[in-house]
Amino acid sequence: MIVRRPLMTRLVDRLEADRKAVRLLQELRRRYGRGPLRLHTPGRRMVVVLSPEHVHRVLAGSPEPFHPATREKRATLAHFEPAGVLISSTEDRPERRRFNEAALDTDHAVHRGADAMLGKINDEVDRLLADVDQRGGLVWEDYNRHWMRMVRRVTFGEGAADDEQLTEDLLALRAAANWAFLHPERRGRRARFLNRVQHHLDRAEPGTLAEWTAKAPTTANTYPEHQVPQWLFAFDAANWASYRTLGLLASHPEHAGLARQDLAGRDLRRPQDLPYLRACVLESLRLWPTTPAVLRETTRGTQWEDGPIPENTSMLIYAPFFHRDDEHVDAAHRFEPDLWARERTEGDWPFIPFSAGPGICPGRNLVLHVTSTVIGRLLTERDLVLEDHLLDPRHPLPGTLNPFTLRFRTEPRPAP
Ligand code: HEM
Repeated sequence: MIVRRPLMTRLVDRLEADRKAVRLLQELRRRYGRGPLRLHTPGRRMVVVLSPEHVHRVLAGSPEPFHPATREKRATLAHFEPAGVLISSTEDRPERRRFNEAALDTDHAVHRGADAMLGKINDEVDRLLADVDQRGGLVWEDYNRHWMRMVRRVTFGEGAADDEQLTEDLLALRAAANWAFLHPERRGRRARFLNRVQHHLDRAEPGTLAEWTAKAPTTANTYPEHQVPQWLFAFDAANWASYRTLGLLASHPEHAGLARQDLAGRDLRRPQDLPYLRACVLESLRLWPTTPAVLRETTRGTQWEDGPIPENTSMLIYAPFFHRDDEHVDAAHRFEPDLWARERTEGDWPFIPFSAGPGICPGRNLVLHVTSTVIGRLLTERDLVLEDHLLDPRHPLPGTLNPFTLRFRTEPRPAP
């Protein structure tokens, strides 16, 4: 699923589809062992990965022999980023990956350009808070609108702040992408969208990701305008994850207290790492991963304990199965940010909200910094009360959580 629609999300929510899928995979593991398990899927060779060692093996083996550019991903993402790194060939991938890592400053917990970006982030939070106070509460529509505006400002700067057409074009292309092979390409819309991205990249406004993009290494084969749509698209997942984190903190006062302690005395307008809130966002992503299916495709035959897996086989790693496997993870259905404070080893039970190995999300540090800053501001400046009891800490957390329906009552907090 490339874009989640409110109606479909409500349906999935009601069916508790993810919880049922985890149960089914647990049952299959009991019956058939540790996998990988071959599925009978007409016209397609497909296996499901069922053990942590195999998850690590597959993700560490990208792009060869386990390639990220699967047939499904190529069919969907080509609707708006045909030369994107995620669907690039083994030959094209390294330089596009290098470009992404340089512009997103992947290896730094806080992007080295964060100082300027924080001005934009904080200003957009100020605007959101004004709307919150006028409405007397926080609702998805306001959060989403300001989030999208913030993403355009951080990525391209003030010249794109009100370019809503850009966001709408990407949304329409993603809606077509939902239908992968079945939907005709929207060539006109794609051309308009990619031209607009190019226009904003050419402006390279200082203090934005576009400025970093202009400084990143490129060749004639990099196609920066095809890399950036993935960023805009992925920032959307962060919107969901951060709003759900607010829901978790509003319904878990003990954790909200710890988060506020961690924030005490900090100036969120200055670049800094916020470890506790980062862990809270990671927990939201563990409980409700925004990329539930991590897919790879074999480029050659590989040997496994139970026999060979041939070339051109799809390998499915279903993240909720590992994140919510209550037969192995004690805190499977609880909100436990401390899970992320622990050092992890290869043999550990895998939590992979950002994938792992050479194809791991190069935007993870940037996005954890942005989300934790936004949540930090809201948490220190308002009391948030969730308007229903979906996330009661005395009960197992639900298998799915539709963010569109979360509403908060808000009260100003006394200045610290
Ligand atoms: C909460 C937010 C995010 C989550 C959960 C997330 C998760 C992921 C995951 C699971 C993958 C691997 C997909 C696969 O192997 O099929 C991925 C790849 C990627 N992500 Fe993110 N992402 C997020 C936000 C971002 C942001 C904000 C950016 C950029 C600003 C970004 C840039 C990328 C890129 C460029 C790739 C492709 C990497 C490659 O193929 O080498 N992501 N992300």
